[in-house]
Amino acid sequence: MLRNRAFALLSAALTLSSLALSHAQAQSAGKQYVIGFSQLAFDDPWRVAFNTQMQKAAAKYPDFKLVIVNAQRDSAKQVADVENLLQQKVDLLIISPNEAAPLTAVVKRVYDAKIPVIVLDRALLGNAYTLFIGADNKLIGRKAGAYAAQWCKDKNLKPCNVLEMTGLSGSVPAQDRGSGFREGLKANKDAKIVASPTSEWQKALAVPAAAAAFQANRSINVVYAHNDDSAEGVYIAARNANLDLKNMLFMGIDGLPDKNGSMVSILQGRLGASFVYPNGAAEAMDWAHRILTKGEKPPKKITLGTVEINTQNAKAVCAQYDCEIK
Ligand code: FRU
Repeated sequence: MLRNRAFALLSAALTLSSLALSHAQAQSAGKQYVIGFSQLAFDDPWRVAFNTQMQKAAAKYPDFKLVIVNAQRDSAKQVADVENLLQQKVDLLIISPNEAAPLTAVVKRVYDAKIPVIVLDRALLGNAYTLFIGADNKLIGRKAGAYAAQWCKDKNLKPCNVLEMTGLSGSVPAQDRGSGFREGLKANKDAKIVASPTSEWQKALAVPAAAAAFQANRSINVVYAHNDDSAEGVYIAARNANLDLKNMLFMGIDGLPDKNGSMVSILQGRLGASFVYPNGAAEAMDWAHRILTKGEKPPKKITLGTVEINTQNAKAVCAQYDCEIK
């Protein structure tokens, strides 16, 4: 009995000293953290800029290794991607989920395994994650609705017909940008949404979806697309249908400052208004570092701001964001 206890004490001491040793070794070698980033797609300008900013933000921390995986807009693939990252035992997971419902359970598994999880841009259901960072899509939608309502009033259009090109219905930004827009549009009782087809956020799908909508209704005054890429797709369809582009308003959301983004598009006269939609890359990486190296507890939610861009302020906003005017 006594011998057993002595043995137990000895082995506990050995375990402690080997732990202490490995900790010291880790410190001298510099502990490396693997950050897994499950990104829903790599194939649109906003996601490309997002990935670049994630890499830049991670490069600030030499103790971070960032692994980015591409779900290719497929929620089932994204579930498998997250499972893989969990199996690889990443130190922290960052995810921008394609859709809310299909991704919620797998992210909860990671969170329950005590791996910190930061969710970016598209929200999940429930609250089984460490931190959500994103802009207020409902507010952005409301601002877009108010802008459209006022534009219709200024043009004295009665009725004022609105074509809404929606994002992927299972993603929270599409839901919020839709409901917020309806609230904002209420400011003008003559402004009416006449069709709401979906492009699932993609320009390539927006062109045929809008072509069909314009065939059904040629008297569209306002186009509200849930993102800039889709707004550009609708613009192409409207041009192909020989619509009176100069007397229409095309609106989107994202406000990228690069040469394909809406700041430049507004200056070039295609889109009429858009809203900056920040991705939260820098905030996410800073919080990842604070969580992992300092054990800090973040707030549950960080809401990022937006900026309205329109024909009046595009030049000034462009200068402020150092945008790439062709
Ligand atoms: C890019 C994107 C953006 C949009 C965001 C919404 O994949 O469609 O254009 O603002 O996702 O989550």
